[in-house]
Amino acid sequence: MDAEAAASRVLELRTLIAHHDQCYYGSDAPEIPDAIYDALWRELQQIEVQFPVLITPDSPTQRISGAPAEGFGSVTHLVPMLSLANAFEDADIAAFDRRVREALIGQGDLEPDGLLEFGAELKFDGLAVSLRYEHGQLVQAATRGDGSTGEDVTLNIRTIRAIPLRLTASPVATPEVLEVRGEVLIFRADFKRLNQVQRAQGEREFVNPRNAAAGSLRQLDPKITAQRPLRFFAYGIGTVDDRTREQLPATQSGMLDWLVDLGLPVGPCREGILGGAGLLQFWARVLAQRAEFPFDIDGVVYKVNRRDWQDKLGWVARSPRWAIAHKFPAEEAMTRLLDIEIQVGRTGALTPVAKLEPVFVGGVTVSNATLHNEDEIRRKDLQVGDNVIIRRAGDVIPEVIRRVPEARLSTTRPFVMPTACPVCGSQVAREPNGAVLRCTGGLFCGAQRRQALRHFAQRRAMDIEGLGEKIIDQLVEQELVQTPADLYHLSTEVLAPLFRAKNPREESRAASNLVGAIAASREVRLERFLFALGIRHVGEEIARILARTYGDLEPIIHEDWIERLDQKLAVQKENQRRRQRSDPPLVVPLEGIGPEIISSIGEFFAQPHNLQVIDALRAGGVRWPVEIGTKVGWENISAEAVGVVGGEIETASGVCSGQTWVITGRLPSLSREEAAERIRLAGGKVAGSVSKRTDFVLAGEEAGSKLDRARELGVAVIDEFEFLRRMLNG
Ligand code: IVH
Repeated sequence: MDAEAAASRVLELRTLIAHHDQCYYGSDAPEIPDAIYDALWRELQQIEVQFPVLITPDSPTQRISGAPAEGFGSVTHLVPMLSLANAFEDADIAAFDRRVREALIGQGDLEPDGLLEFGAELKFDGLAVSLRYEHGQLVQAATRGDGSTGEDVTLNIRTIRAIPLRLTASPVATPEVLEVRGEVLIFRADFKRLNQVQRAQGEREFVNPRNAAAGSLRQLDPKITAQRPLRFFAYGIGTVDDRTREQLPATQSGMLDWLVDLGLPVGPCREGILGGAGLLQFWARVLAQRAEFPFDIDGVVYKVNRRDWQDKLGWVARSPRWAIAHKFPAEEAMTRLLDIEIQVGRTGALTPVAKLEPVFVGGVTVSNATLHNEDEIRRKDLQVGDNVIIRRAGDVIPEVIRRVPEARLSTTRPFVMPTACPVCGSQVAREPNGAVLRCTGGLFCGAQRRQALRHFAQRRAMDIEGLGEKIIDQLVEQELVQTPADLYHLSTEVLAPLFRAKNPREESRAASNLVGAIAASREVRLERFLFALGIRHVGEEIARILARTYGDLEPIIHEDWIERLDQKLAVQKENQRRRQRSDPPLVVPLEGIGPEIISSIGEFFAQPHNLQVIDALRAGGVRWPVEIGTKVGWENISAEAVGVVGGEIETASGVCSGQTWVITGRLPSLSREEAAERIRLAGGKVAGSVSKRTDFVLAGEEAGSKLDRARELGVAVIDEFEFLRRMLNG
């Protein structure tokens, strides 16, 4: 390669890499696999080694530069970095709308009955920075500091791949000077991984993604910052040159689009909203989706959309009059750990549960939180009586995150796990190489029996309507039911007193309804029955694979699971080899069922007790239609000969064969679960979130972010009517 060819290839590679960084960090829609991206990088590095004169500061290879500093220089913000006034109540928002409207009406800008347009955005929970681009090149970056003066963090900011070192040239003219304001943050999944690394290296863990982002940006050694998974979202501008100012889009939303055109990442879920009433709906909608965003948000922000009106409204006391933050209920709160109790789960696992002084967090009052297991308590160094930080995010079970570091009172006491089951007194055993303690009582243990019955009766298993927790608890307490099979022998007379209704007639009616529901559950699909059995690690998906592969229960019971396990391990090994050679992998039956699950299935059917329960269920009339299993291919694969002959397994074929579906919103007639079942029966897969690999989105009423995402990615969206038509016509 001559120097001229190298120069043009280098430019091309830098543009390509910047484009793919933008796809990845800006629109969250990578266009190429990581391996190809890495190859572009390597090629660029090689050419730069060969032709060092071609290296410029805006090359992605130059993101990490400079030696560790003694401290940060300071940067004066020419346009101050303001903060937002916070609102927590609906009334605060109504007052904001009124204030702004009155000011604009008073100045003759808005008609008295005119509605105001707002740009609504997410409020990212990170830290504010200002990035200065001159002639398209990133030249300086600063933290907010006190709003007038911040710290110079240019070298650290340069390591963040989401931030372009050079603005995209087209389709807009490159501004001479542009200061971009935005938030540096860390995504939740990255934060978890970062803390795992910190733990593995014996370093202190970070408290939350925001602190981790702040700590990472304030590292004196940019090499350390470069290892931290920092991201960036732009939400505004500071200083711009005069010529650019004249050409700036007239609205906040237009300005954000313009920043996107310049190659800057802007957060998702922006909306233009006409009139104050719509703001509250936006807030509620985003709050409902809060857990689905891959990063933390602590509220939403409303901004008067017209920029000339923003300027007119100005600011008071370091906050703009034209914008407000509408906060969400905090997801973290401090409270006292009053006690640690032990809960026994369906599979006998002993889970310590924190009993807390009730505290309002994440929008609800919380008095219990999970502590996972004994190791977790030790790792977090918790004692009964400690002050703790708890977190409740979305619908997630509240968790004790850590204790508040403070001198302990003499009244705190360490916690010790019991050696006997607190419910049935059976011995407790530690799982081999696991942190989990289990009660060995099985169905002898009241807690396990209760949970097993709840699991058995639930809608997604045997679907016994009316067999709720209260009735189950009484059935267990009064020893009316030992195993799920006993349910099929219950009479109206036995059940009636459990209902405690107003009069005996109502009790007897409720009881006879339940007897009817139990009877109706006798006819069941095999996959649901398998799921209902409560085999460890066998969820609905695994149960479905088993049912499809074997077609009936008998072959599953008589399967040689030890042999299957050996084969699975051998196939895994072989496929690892094949992957390294880029050969196609062996496809074998029970795809998707790993060795741990196979062991668990084998252990379950090896227990005579479990087989007795199954026999008793069958004797009680439980039955399922036999399906045509697709089991082929095992015969060709012996553990030793794996890799020589690999049997192909055919998966179910049907209208949806090979397709991935996502279901969202309320469908007019089918439940989501029913629609999912139809898709699976037709050979398709149902996924929880929309990606490029999604073939169809089945959307009903009030479909939210998944529908938006589908539209963004151009995934086909159909309604229930069209769905049913396809299912019928094939
Ligand atoms: S606008 C003049 N928009 O919230 C208005 N801020 O106190 C300046 N923040 O320091 C801020 N998301 O760090 C704006 N979409 C958003 C934001 C946002 C997060 C942060 C920002 C600021 C603080 C407000």
